[in-house]
Amino acid sequence: MENIRQSLEARGLPIIREKSHQILMDLAKELNPKNILEIGTAVGFSGMSMLLSAKDAKLITLELHHDRVIEAKANFKKHGFSDRVEVIEGDCAMTLANMLESGNFNKYFDFVFLDGPKAQYVKLLDTLIDLTKSGGMILADNVLFRGFVRGDKTNMPKRFKTIVKRLEMFLEQVEMSDKISSYKLLDVEDGLLEIIVR
Ligand SMILES: C[S@@+](CC[C@H](N)C(=O)[O-])C[C@H]1O[C@@H](n2cnc3c(N)ncnc32)[C@H](O)[C@@H]1O
Repeated sequence: MENIRQSLEARGLPIIREKSHQILMDLAKELNPKNILEIGTAVGFSGMSMLLSAKDAKLITLELHHDRVIEAKANFKKHGFSDRVEVIEGDCAMTLANMLESGNFNKYFDFVFLDGPKAQYVKLLDTLIDLTKSGGMILADNVLFRGFVRGDKTNMPKRFKTIVKRLEMFLEQVEMSDKISSYKLLDVEDGLLEIIVR
């Protein structure tokens, strides 16, 4: 997968970083989930990685941008994953609300990779918990956002203010939630948070 990363990064695509990627793959292998949900497909890099690691898993992955959806679908097809993946185009908040409302996905997913719009993590958490099985994991990427979340903000560009504030609210929400049995913050690269649903 690492040679694919280089060409995607060279195009400026936002792809999970190297050590975090290894952790994602190790977790997917170890937990061996059957149903995976991903928020933020980009062009399918992390999605394919999870499907490579979790051999029996099916993946539903959500992406806002049409051109990325098209490219992700082509990548999944090219690498032989088409029959194990569904890419849903649209705003993830809307898609997740629809999934929950349909009644087909309540407590359905064993593993959720949250890697979509960072400022929306706080808004999405409760819905994601409702979609995740008891004992299942939600893995959230970028929760420390360049070290500014719960860190020194002296040199923080103004444009990051909202995102950082909302990620701090997200961490507080996780700490306070009685729907979460445990969580672990990994200070690796941009910060990964493992959440176990009660
Ligand atoms: C960090 S990238 C995902 C990277 C991907 N998980 C990987 O490592 O290969 C975040 C993705 O979320 C998408 N995104 C942003 N806002 C979104 C929204 N409201 N709903 C769905 N996807 C969104 C972006 O277009 C972007 O492709």
